[in-house]
Amino acid sequence: MIATTLTDGLTALGPASRAAGAAGAGVAVRLQGLGRRFGAMAVVADLDLEIPPGQFLALLGPSGCGKTTLLRLIAGLDTPDRGSIRLEGDPEGRSRAYVFQDACLLPWRRVLDNVALPLELGGVPKAERREQARRLIQLVGLEAASERYPDELSGGMKMRVSLARALITRPRLLLLDEPFAALDDFTRQHLDDHLQGLFLAHGMTVVFVTHSMAEAVYLADRVVMLAPQGGGLVLDQRVDLPRPRDQDTRVSPGYAAHIHDLATALARWAPGGVVA
Ligand SMILES: Nc1ncnc2c1ncn2[C@@H]1O[C@H](COP(=O)(O)OP(=O)(O)O)[C@@H](O)[C@H]1O
Ligand SMILES: [Mg+2]
Repeated sequence: MIATTLTDGLTALGPASRAAGAAGAGVAVRLQGLGRRFGAMAVVADLDLEIPPGQFLALLGPSGCGKTTLLRLIAGLDTPDRGSIRLEGDPEGRSRAYVFQDACLLPWRRVLDNVALPLELGGVPKAERREQARRLIQLVGLEAASERYPDELSGGMKMRVSLARALITRPRLLLLDEPFAALDDFTRQHLDDHLQGLFLAHGMTVVFVTHSMAEAVYLADRVVMLAPQGGGLVLDQRVDLPRPRDQDTRVSPGYAAHIHDLATALARWAPGGVVA
């Protein structure tokens, strides 16, 4: 079922997107000497990070360590006190999209009009934005729900609407803040597969904040971990598992080895510490 949806999705995205499907369509992100304080507390301090175009980066870290703060800085929703953020290939950040942990849908709008909202705000005519919204809704497998209101949807469906809405602007940099954390494991794995399919079809750069080492390894090309109180990146691990990843990946020795390496590195860095 997932495979069918994704195949449809490739078609739905159209020839231009398929051509841009390889890495290279994404934006390169360069953070230099980045700092953000709240009062006396340095949440991010002197942080350097380079994310090449088309990379899927997972960001892990203990609760309160500044993951959301960092993501909001990259998204342009907040401004740093120090340092610079450069988006190469998209200096004004026009092709950024942000997915919050909560789906943040407008309850008085049907699914179709929630997904179409960014195009509506951009002045795209109604017929065109609805057509594009329908394509994205098909891409995330929600055709049957396009006329429903948000309170008629499950949590997983709401997040799929949120993903579709983020993708309708064809972002080249997609930022997601623990998007599936509130969902049950089955739904989460299903949405991880959706997201991977969208990533492979769309060729964007992705920064994905998650609580879960297993989810980070399953999805990402690279996993970094942020230490609390401006402690910076304490871990930077490549994940070279072949794509597309699927249920077999989850039981493969390579996958287990990556999670083991990550857990060992975390235990060394924070004995008894919890990634939350
Ligand atoms: N707007 C804000 N004003 C004051 N403190 C904030 C603000 N945003 C975040 N913080 C603080 O910064 C720290 C990091 O928060 P956050 O980035 O949300 O962490 P995470 O997403 O890793 O859980 C926390 O201690 C939080 O209370
Ligand atoms: Mg957070």
